[in-house]
Amino acid sequence: MLNKLKEIEDSGINEINGSSSTAALEELRIKYLGKKGALTSILRQLGTLSSEERPKVGAAANVVRQKIEARIEQKLAELESLQLDLKLKTEKVDVTLPGCKKEIGHLHPLRSTENRMIEIFVSMGFDLVEGPEVESVYNNFDALNAPADHPSRDETDTFYISDSVVLRTQTSPVQIRAMQTRKPPIRIISPGKVYRCDSPDATHSPVFHQLEGLVIDKHITLGDLKGTLDLFAQSMFGEGTRTRLRPHNFPFTEPSVEVDFSCFACGGKGCKLCKGEGWIEMLGAGMVHPNVLAGCGIDPNEYTGFAFGVGIERTAMRKYNINDLRLFYENDVRFIGQF
Ligand code: DAH
Repeated sequence: MLNKLKEIEDSGINEINGSSSTAALEELRIKYLGKKGALTSILRQLGTLSSEERPKVGAAANVVRQKIEARIEQKLAELESLQLDLKLKTEKVDVTLPGCKKEIGHLHPLRSTENRMIEIFVSMGFDLVEGPEVESVYNNFDALNAPADHPSRDETDTFYISDSVVLRTQTSPVQIRAMQTRKPPIRIISPGKVYRCDSPDATHSPVFHQLEGLVIDKHITLGDLKGTLDLFAQSMFGEGTRTRLRPHNFPFTEPSVEVDFSCFACGGKGCKLCKGEGWIEMLGAGMVHPNVLAGCGIDPNEYTGFAFGVGIERTAMRKYNINDLRLFYENDVRFIGQF
């Protein structure tokens, strides 16, 4: 029986040495050491041996089991390290290859201009509020003191949803919403989209953006308006920028003004950009009309206020010297990528 054990040991070790996969090793483990394995069948026969032989054969069988077990473990480790080497060889990453470049976008110039405008007014203490783009005729026209026959009410100028609902033509109706829901002192700005029945050309678009401003308090004067717009002009276009007020007419302000900024290109001397004027038209503004205040339940004898509305496209066009409005909407990355 000792010979038989020796045979088992030799053939086991041989087979283990020759195996080339962990699965094959597992099969050998069962073949030699399993319940029905070669070694177990020897141990089962121990009972037939004499009491002298029995411990010798038993001890020898244990030694064989330990040898085979140890060899299997060793071989397993060898195979695993071989597999790892193979993986490292075949799956290596060439870190010197050029990567896949991801184009990272940035804010649209209109959005970054709007953000800068908001930042400037918020730093002066204005609250940022929003209003709906679908607005009542009342808020868009009536409450803003627009006479019944005002040309802007015409269907050729304004998109009507129904007789009493329009796509807002200006951000000014947000003034009405603010005065109806807040108590003075009121200091708000409201940027957003506005809509007009215009065919697109270099200076017109059926959708564009404005930023509305409104201040209501006791003792507010045109001087406060000018000071506020001076600070805006300087923050947006540079320290030396000056403002000029020219008389104008809006239904919702009295007096009404158009506001020019000194030319950013020539500083006011006159150049190609300002067409020799030295000034560039920027926005509409004025002192809130007493009818508008009273209509919102604010006593015009106690409170006064100023308002202004500035085009965001116009501001961006002036800032970046862009001469065609349509460029903003075409989404040509060759244009947008420049800002
Ligand atoms: N709503 C005017 C427009 O769309 C701009 C404007 C002018 C707004 C004077 C104002 C203002 O608040 O006081 O042309």
